[in-house]
Amino acid sequence: MPDDQAREPVKVPLVKEPLSVLQTLRTARRNVLEIIPDICTKQPMVSGKTAMVRWHMVMDPGALKRVLKDNLANYPKSDITKNLLRPAIGDSMFIAEGAHWRWQRRAAAPVFSHRNIAALAPIMSASADAVCARLAGQAEADMFEQMVQATFEVISSVTFSGAGEMAGDEVHKAIDRFIDQSARVSLLDVIGVPTWVPRPSRLFGGNPVADMKRVADAAIEKRRKVGAKEVPDLLDLLLEGMDPETKRQMNNAELRDNLLTFIVAGHETTALTLAWALYLCAFDQDVQEKLYSEAVAVLDGRIAGPEDIGSLPYTEQVIKETLRLYPPAPFISRTAQGPDELCGREIRKKDTVILPIYALQRNEQLWPEPDAFKPDRFAKGAKYDRFAWLPFGDGPRVCIGAHFAMVEAQIILASLILRYKFEPVAGKDPVPEMVLTLRPKGGVWLRISPRI
Ligand code: HEM
Repeated sequence: MPDDQAREPVKVPLVKEPLSVLQTLRTARRNVLEIIPDICTKQPMVSGKTAMVRWHMVMDPGALKRVLKDNLANYPKSDITKNLLRPAIGDSMFIAEGAHWRWQRRAAAPVFSHRNIAALAPIMSASADAVCARLAGQAEADMFEQMVQATFEVISSVTFSGAGEMAGDEVHKAIDRFIDQSARVSLLDVIGVPTWVPRPSRLFGGNPVADMKRVADAAIEKRRKVGAKEVPDLLDLLLEGMDPETKRQMNNAELRDNLLTFIVAGHETTALTLAWALYLCAFDQDVQEKLYSEAVAVLDGRIAGPEDIGSLPYTEQVIKETLRLYPPAPFISRTAQGPDELCGREIRKKDTVILPIYALQRNEQLWPEPDAFKPDRFAKGAKYDRFAWLPFGDGPRVCIGAHFAMVEAQIILASLILRYKFEPVAGKDPVPEMVLTLRPKGGVWLRISPRI
């Protein structure tokens, strides 16, 4: 076995020299993630100015805690993030601030309770079963594509299932087009590259968004008429949801915007987690064997289900380590509303504060051997700073779907590993590429052989 340090999984080559605006643009066209300087993996904070915008990249856990939690009111999400997403998901929980955010979050919180997610988990198991069946007889497959299909089946079944198969397809295509059209610009905008610089995809063709909304509206109308399903899904639960303080409930437009948010925020992110996890399992066969042993012992030949969550600790560790190395949301950003101090540095009103999750989670002051794949970092009792691992953010705006995603990822990963052995395809390593999310360019092609 080659020594661990010589064998590291694929990573993004971050920039080593400060970039001019023009260089920034050229680099960004190649891979937006590369704009994050390499020193972000060594320092607690890096500041700069691009085209009049002062920005700070923050990797210090204490300062991150201040931005996300202790001084939250001073750091709302940056306008650019909101402007980018608003055409698709309105003023939903993801975008709203202050009182308008708070009541929506309170109304939706019970939807994501552990009990409700356990009740929805059989849908995740069905999707795991379906992907195992699809792989039968295949020698190689793009596991990213497979995982996108699997997680879409889950999220569309728990949101708009009543709208029928066709509607699911339509929504899927509309979302893909929406993400493709909007995503490439975000970090460029965040660091203040002037708006006259042509973006590859500045304009939203109005259609994908309109399509998405039309399908969603129809599904909500229909559900209001026919009533809740036997096992209430996310739409039923959100229809019932009420802010306990203001007693406010969501109207149709608010329901639609939040459900579309769940799809946009929850579908590709979970697919990426699974695809990168499978890449890592193929990369490190010892880890895969350990996962396999756990799946054999716990599942006894069946597809994983809600009853297994809590009994698959190593599977959970592998997923957490995957989220460290390949965070689906590799940076998030905020705009300072007033003066503050982070890591002893002055923050001024309107400064952009970037949380480069990718660089944070590979920062050498926080993680020993930061680029190595070591699921034991997350073993029971192992210690790491909570604000050094932020794939779901933290504080009051932490991802509301984090538990949903972790349960889904465990069910699908454990079931796949039990049925199949995955190995790399020579010359087809994925290249991490930032398109709003951290995608494997070229897909995750793996060789597949059946275990049972
Ligand atoms: C592995 C999968 C996922 C990852 C890595 C992820 C990541 C994130 C991150 C980083 C944030 C915080 C953004 C910020 O503070 O700027 C967030 C927020 C959010 N996520 Fe997720 N997410 C995932 C899955 C999901 C799922 C499955 C759903 C819903 C079904 C979901 C719904 C949301 C919503 C609604 C918010 C906004 C919460 C608020 O502002 O109150 N996410 N997610």
